Amino acid sequence: MKLTKGIAAFAAAVAVAAFAAQDAGRATELALGEYLAFGQLTKDYYEAIVKHAGLQVIHADGAVTLRLQEIGREVATTPVSSSTTIRLKDEYYPLEVTRHVKTWNDCAAVETWVEIRHAETGPIKLIRADSIATPVAASTNAVRVLSLTGRAKNEANVSESRVVKGQTVELISSAGTRDAWEANAAMMVLFGEDVDEERGAVLGVALEWAGTSCSRVRRNWDGKRTEVFAGVDMTTGPYTLDPGVTFTTPKAILVWSEKGKGEVSREYHRWARRHLMPHGDALHPVLLNSWEGSYFSFTEQTLLDMMAGVKEMGGEMFVLDDGWFGRGRYARDETNRATAGLGDWCVNTAKLPHGLGWLAEEAAKRGLQFGLWVEPEMANTNSWLTQEHPDWFLQEKGRPVVCGRGKTQVVLDLTNPAVRDNLFTQLDAVYSAIPSLAYVKWDCNASIHNPGSTYLAPDRQPNLWYDYTQGYNELLARFQAKRPQIMVQACASGGGRMDFGSLRYTDEFWASDCTDPYRRIFIQWGASQFYPASAMACHVTASPNHQTKRVTPLKYRFDVAMTGRLGFELHPKDLSAEEVAFAKAAVADYKRIRPIVQRGDLYRLVSPYEKPFSSLLYVSESKDSAAVFALGLKIDGERVEVLKLRGLNPDASYSVQEINCIPGRHHAKLPAAISGRDLMEKGITVRLSGDYDSAVFEVAATAR
Ligand code: GLA
Repeated sequence: MKLTKGIAAFAAAVAVAAFAAQDAGRATELALGEYLAFGQLTKDYYEAIVKHAGLQVIHADGAVTLRLQEIGREVATTPVSSSTTIRLKDEYYPLEVTRHVKTWNDCAAVETWVEIRHAETGPIKLIRADSIATPVAASTNAVRVLSLTGRAKNEANVSESRVVKGQTVELISSAGTRDAWEANAAMMVLFGEDVDEERGAVLGVALEWAGTSCSRVRRNWDGKRTEVFAGVDMTTGPYTLDPGVTFTTPKAILVWSEKGKGEVSREYHRWARRHLMPHGDALHPVLLNSWEGSYFSFTEQTLLDMMAGVKEMGGEMFVLDDGWFGRGRYARDETNRATAGLGDWCVNTAKLPHGLGWLAEEAAKRGLQFGLWVEPEMANTNSWLTQEHPDWFLQEKGRPVVCGRGKTQVVLDLTNPAVRDNLFTQLDAVYSAIPSLAYVKWDCNASIHNPGSTYLAPDRQPNLWYDYTQGYNELLARFQAKRPQIMVQACASGGGRMDFGSLRYTDEFWASDCTDPYRRIFIQWGASQFYPASAMACHVTASPNHQTKRVTPLKYRFDVAMTGRLGFELHPKDLSAEEVAFAKAAVADYKRIRPIVQRGDLYRLVSPYEKPFSSLLYVSESKDSAAVFALGLKIDGERVEVLKLRGLNPDASYSVQEINCIPGRHHAKLPAAISGRDLMEKGITVRLSGDYDSAVFEVAATAR
């Protein structure tokens, strides 16, 4: 009775929320549905108890099963959201599980997470503690899992794996820090053979988590039951949970759509911009990051020249990357490359005698905001910090330390509050010296490869992975609370922190250290499956590209970078006068379409995985304006493609204009005015030819 009442109250609460009620309905049902715990009784005669579970513990007395029963349910609503709390208790052990489900009135994404606490006679062990562990009823014989996997400079490869009857597809991210490389903690479960961008039933499952993760989709022996799990990966060892302490899983964000993958992506983008990213829908600046333009080799004059150059091209911010810090023999400079200085957050006065405050003022004089690169989680063994605190970095008793980059890089022990305090104090002093600091690039260039903590007790070593990520969250939250105006970019050797866990505290991610536009078309296509364009940092860099040596036209580099948050990563002095003029016009064009790209709805029209060419369309919420990108890969001869637009108002009249053009080189014949219906049904015909050709079109509703 109680239960039915709870559901009814919840449904009523959701029903008032006009569009969320419809679109979030199925995802809400799944979030409120069964939570598969090891040992629960099942109706399946052959199984008898649930063994493929999302929650599995070893009780203090060694027993292994759970029998959870609901003991209470509450619904709380606000004008913008609705939250349900379901309390479950083991029928025998003093162990409670609280499940949370939160829906929003303005988007279809549903957040769900779990808290576990107990009052047993001693600690229990969590073998698994997933955020979501639910069966999904779907009458189809074809279930696939869309995932993003990759590595440094090759992030977010999209693949779809078939889940065969009786088997499980499992995506594990085990690095602990550069979590988004190996297997991004976001997947789409595709039900049916005919799922594409526009059609088919899709369940998106993403974690708000920047640590180890495990997402699984399992089908039972006859394929009639599909089970979906996602949570922190515990294969690194069970988590030991003391009595009275609450273990909180990361949030899982569920999106259900009967209208294909495109709609699922748009809902994630909407949710992230509205309910996750600290600066929400704020427009992100066109910036120049110093890295590929100068690497470690710069003087104050180099940086001033870069500022002047980016300002001339219409840039709005200058970001000083790696190489500005360290003291005495451990100072980071161009001779030691990446072997020293991490951990010592003070300006290298030998290199920057006037300091960072002065640099920021120089930027301001030129009309630019100022941003700074930091790598708080890391230290070099060549640093004063590690000399003074040899127990502050992750290490295993009795084993030599395995070092990363520069053969001296170690990961600081963020489980230790003293380490977090030290980092906060050091960086707070740096930030205080730059009152106008507007942006921080938070990098992280190692995975956890010495999985041991001197801070955690010997019997708590496996807790490291989860506790580290909570330490990371806490540190980011502390910086954010003190200086909420600062926009942060999450970076981890490129796109290793392309995740919703980081985006809770940051506003963007560096998508990849591969800045080759040809490769970026694929990487950005992958990122767009879940992450909004405003959060995806895309920089125009030099040609030949530093990573792949590929030579591409400047226009192509711009067109590809304009599909996200546009920036530069080169020394402007290396550009010719014609190139600077082109860049100036390109930035002006981008600024005009920036609100559409950064806040609009994305429609992926053509996949680079299917054709030697890709197309993306962004439509403003009002449907008054749109931006269409046609990005060629390697085209043999000429290719004529009809791009049928989506999401426009069929009855409105629009003008379409090609922008960011090279004079005399147009890619389509465009009518003066065309209806939304024609743009969607007949489309625009675009001609691309040769390698690395591209075109951008601006669509605007004409006044009636
Ligand atoms: C990582 C980042 C780069 C750059 C360097 C600096 O590789 O991904 O963008 O910041 O570190 O060392």
